[in-house]
Amino acid sequence: MVNFSTTYLGIPLKNPLVVAASSISSHIDRVKMAEDAGAGALVIRSLFEEQIQFDHLLLDERLSAGAESFPEALTHFPQIEHGGPKEHLMWVEKTRKAVSMPLFASLNAVSPGAWTHYARQLADTGVDGLEVNFYAVATDPLRPGIDIERDLYQVVESIRAEVKLPIAVKLSPFYTSTVNVVHELEQRGINGVVLFNRFLQPDIDPDTETIFSQMVFSHPDEMKVPLRWIALLYGRTTLDLSLSTGAHTGRDVVKALLAGATTVQMAATLLKHGVHYLSTMLMYLQNWMQERGYTSVDEFRGKLSQKNCDDPFTFERAQYVKLLLDQK
Ligand SMILES: Cc1cc2nc3c(=O)[nH]c(=O)nc-3n(C[C@H](O)[C@H](O)[C@H](O)COP(=O)(O)O)c2cc1C
Repeated sequence: MVNFSTTYLGIPLKNPLVVAASSISSHIDRVKMAEDAGAGALVIRSLFEEQIQFDHLLLDERLSAGAESFPEALTHFPQIEHGGPKEHLMWVEKTRKAVSMPLFASLNAVSPGAWTHYARQLADTGVDGLEVNFYAVATDPLRPGIDIERDLYQVVESIRAEVKLPIAVKLSPFYTSTVNVVHELEQRGINGVVLFNRFLQPDIDPDTETIFSQMVFSHPDEMKVPLRWIALLYGRTTLDLSLSTGAHTGRDVVKALLAGATTVQMAATLLKHGVHYLSTMLMYLQNWMQERGYTSVDEFRGKLSQKNCDDPFTFERAQYVKLLLDQK
């Protein structure tokens, strides 16, 4: 019998498969199905900073009825159709009561501020940990990257001060030095990082000459970016490493673990195939381990990380130079 058990952010999981923050958590029946299909844990969709700020704006408007700035301020916020922070907290509580698997709440942040108090309220719902998703679109040419990173650290420090729960930070793949950012987070008492957040990019329709946005699921090829960074980070940090983006199959789960992932998060594949697909992935993992005589995931986790593989330069520039020069 194989042993999938994994400790993520100090929390024991029965296996490393985690349902990523997504609309899966918007339906209690789907959350229960995920648990039945064997999910190791689930991340509830985010409470967005904009939801909190919007709620405060409404309150301010009520307190100072007729304030002229209100309609103008509204244009800075997206249409919020998922309720405010109170509704979100109630939903997290309801989800907590519905299942017993480990659950993580998620805060989606753009800037430091008092809104981070919501971390404590999320913690009070009984979740096992928090995921902090930091995503700022930097458009000011006078603001250097280090300033944006400082915003991230400030958000993380204030959330760390609010809660004792384990915290994972979900990062963008676009930092100049991912390894340094992870190191800085480690200094701030964070427990893990999720690599990486996936951005939905606006598109342009030349026929109508308009800009539009639509939900496009990840392609399995996209997994190579987080796979590489997990392989590079394994052994360079004490933080847990959770792979996110592009993991679609049981085979991808094996790849992530070989690179050094503590857990593997999935959204697109479960939205496409249904959450019961988790059991197919677990079956693949079990067969793969049995064929090779592995009895626990710890026996092969990180086996193909940069630290442990035969050719460490594969993960750096060497493979890029070689592939380009080999092209005829
Ligand atoms: C419908 C949908 C909703 C999502 N909602 C959130 C969210 O609320 N918070 C968050 O951090 N990520 C959210 N994500 C991003 C996923 O958690 C994940 O990082 C991303 O989809 C890449 O993983 P995948 O390739 O397995 O889909 C969402 C993704 C999808 C498809």
